[in-house]
Amino acid sequence: MSFTTSPQPSAIRGNFLDITHTVSQASDIKNHIRYIEDGLLIISEGKITWFGSWEDGQAHLSKNIQVQHYPDQLIVPGFIDTHIHYPQTEMVGAYGEQLLSWLNTYTFPTELKFKDKAYADKIAAFFVQELLKNGTTTALVFGTVHPQSIDALFEAAEKVDMRLIAGKVMMDRHAPEDLCDTAEQAYQDSKTLIEKWHGKGRALYAITPRFAPTSTPEQLTKAGQLKQEFPDVYVHTHLSENKDEIAWVKLLFPERKNYLDVYDHYGLTGSRSVFAHCVHLEEDEWQCMHKTDSAIAFCPTSNLFLGSGLFSLKQAWNKQVKVGLGTDIGAGTSFSQLQTLNEAYKVQQLQGDKLSAFESLYHATLGGAKSLHLDDKLGNFNIGKEADCVVINLNATALQALRQSQAKDIEDRLFALFTMGDDRNIHTTYVYGQVAYQQK
Ligand code: GUN
Ligand code: ZN
Repeated sequence: MSFTTSPQPSAIRGNFLDITHTVSQASDIKNHIRYIEDGLLIISEGKITWFGSWEDGQAHLSKNIQVQHYPDQLIVPGFIDTHIHYPQTEMVGAYGEQLLSWLNTYTFPTELKFKDKAYADKIAAFFVQELLKNGTTTALVFGTVHPQSIDALFEAAEKVDMRLIAGKVMMDRHAPEDLCDTAEQAYQDSKTLIEKWHGKGRALYAITPRFAPTSTPEQLTKAGQLKQEFPDVYVHTHLSENKDEIAWVKLLFPERKNYLDVYDHYGLTGSRSVFAHCVHLEEDEWQCMHKTDSAIAFCPTSNLFLGSGLFSLKQAWNKQVKVGLGTDIGAGTSFSQLQTLNEAYKVQQLQGDKLSAFESLYHATLGGAKSLHLDDKLGNFNIGKEADCVVINLNATALQALRQSQAKDIEDRLFALFTMGDDRNIHTTYVYGQVAYQQK
């Protein structure tokens, strides 16, 4: 067992904010907000064993327990990133292209470097640190086609007991030869990785066909076979991001009703399936997302950066489809869920809709956990959940301090944080009850 968690219980005292229940309507979130000024969280072996007010909690503190006190900060559940590419960390901000030419010009040449395990190790270590520095404690992550890219990532995450879901890319056409596997090789490599990593410590595996255009029908058949053989692994791919991409899928799979029908046909939809983007879904596709309990990763900084389009959160609530937030590094432009929420708000504004601070918190925490089928383990401070949390400094800059001094309540404070915040606001990140990052 690789877990390094000390069996010694520990405790955190401070101002806690979380959401107690998953919801099916945005308007219901405010009824489940839990704000405890001067609260106490007791942790044992990585899990929450008690949570409530400091006043009530003292009786539950065993002798010699170490209590870490954050009187001036706000403590929220760890942020959950439901779509990110770790190999693209070094290529954030690649100029001038939309999706398909961006892939050919920048992405594929970068991903070729991950054939080298030592290079993958170096970027994986940087990536895990960058997540923690931004308060992200769980992510659903793309590797490259190389199985060693996934070994590198899980090895880096294991060092800090971090809950990550990841998979090697399956891709057997329309990409450089050195970045392509075959249907059979992708099946074998993915199966080996599942057997090695899925359920080891906090690691979970995702079957990861890049997107329909880069997999042959034979490879998608193999992906579906894997899902049947290992029903509790995840499926992670892209869907309906860009109009040229959608037209290309129609050309490549003329026998299918629509883009999502390609994945559905090969058995790749379901309650552990996450589809990044979904900017241009047709009505039939919304129905299929709902019926199969599949989830969407909403990636606002990426959708704006690549000029892909505007995703509607209102639509997703209306259609009763689960949504998490994704940074989509490196098409996305920030590792910060705070910056991602800043852009998410503006994307809704451009469509005449509002995104409240409490709804934003939901998407970044409990809603993200629900999208990843992990809301029994993550997303709030309920007893029994895994102790991942972020200690936030609301006043990281002079301008933030001035704005916060005028805030009228906790909702307004949170909204200002989501509009102006970034990694400068992350004071300390706890993973599985241990300090995994502390701002210097
Ligand atoms: N579609 C297929 N591959 C990718 C990728 O790497 N990034 C994004 N944003 N979309 C994709
Ligand atoms: Zn992506």
